[in-house]
Amino acid sequence: GDATRYEAEGSGATCTGTIDSNHSGYSGTGFCNGDNTDSAYAEFTVQASAAGTATLDLRFANGSSAGRPADLIVNGTRVETASFASTGSWTGWSTQTVTVQLVAGANTIRLDPTTANGLPNIDYLDV
Ligand code: GCU
Ligand code: CA
Repeated sequence: GDATRYEAEGSGATCTGTIDSNHSGYSGTGFCNGDNTDSAYAEFTVQASAAGTATLDLRFANGSSAGRPADLIVNGTRVETASFASTGSWTGWSTQTVTVQLVAGANTIRLDPTTANGLPNIDYLDV
């Protein structure tokens, strides 16, 4: 499709943790391994040519057995809690799709974990 990809290790992104490359299958040069705390987050700045509805595809891996739920916060407002269920292994990458409203220009998209386990590993966001 015509999606624009925003890598978690890219210049417009923030990862409260480390950019790692030890689990294969990621896009780009690595992924965000957030610190395992509810205060760690991953944030993207995405551009929209016009205000309106957008589909976000979030690629992640969760090798733990439990979900790693995270609030999806768009321009400071919580939209939903994404479940980020176990993907079975840290090399098992999966995509979670969410629908959001964007404003024209720059938008801030933050994944804010709701448990002390923190985020799954985050690869990219497609808009
Ligand atoms: C392991 C894994 C990391 C992951 C971490 C976690 O250490 O190698 O990539 O981020 O578990 O539980 O969050
Ligand atoms: Ca981690």
